[in-house]
Amino acid sequence: MLDIYTLGEQVLRNKAEPVLKFDSKLVETLESMVVTMHRARGIGLAAPQVGISQRFFVVQLENEKPLYFINPEIISTSSEKILYEEGCLSIPGVYAEIERSSALVVQALNEKGKRFTLEASGLLARVIFHENDHLDGVLFIDKLIPSVRKKLIEQYEKRMRA
Ligand code: CO
Repeated sequence: MLDIYTLGEQVLRNKAEPVLKFDSKLVETLESMVVTMHRARGIGLAAPQVGISQRFFVVQLENEKPLYFINPEIISTSSEKILYEEGCLSIPGVYAEIERSSALVVQALNEKGKRFTLEASGLLARVIFHENDHLDGVLFIDKLIPSVRKKLIEQYEKRMRA
């Protein structure tokens, strides 16, 4: 079980570095992230959220196998945008509707360093967009208008102090 870093921790704001080594340590980390994500009842978890400033994340939707994305690149996005409610294990209890493209094509490496291409829409696309943002130090609340973001952060910090 890994610690999940929360809002205010610098690692969540850094641009993560590409993965260069595909070894057993990487596989172990990916597996630990899946366990950590399950315990936290999440469907996606990015390496910076467990304090690792590297470009990879895990995703697992209900009744599906876990997916590993290493050094991902979103290579195309649909012009259609949709609003969908998001939350984040690094900002527990905060939810907001965020507008993003409804579909994407992502290219990434798997845990063995093999390249794959995936077309996703719906919830899967949404999670990939969200997790991929973590690799660039971007959180979903950054996409809200400043007044709404400020209010949500104030409520969150008040809850955390209580
Ligand atoms: Co998140």
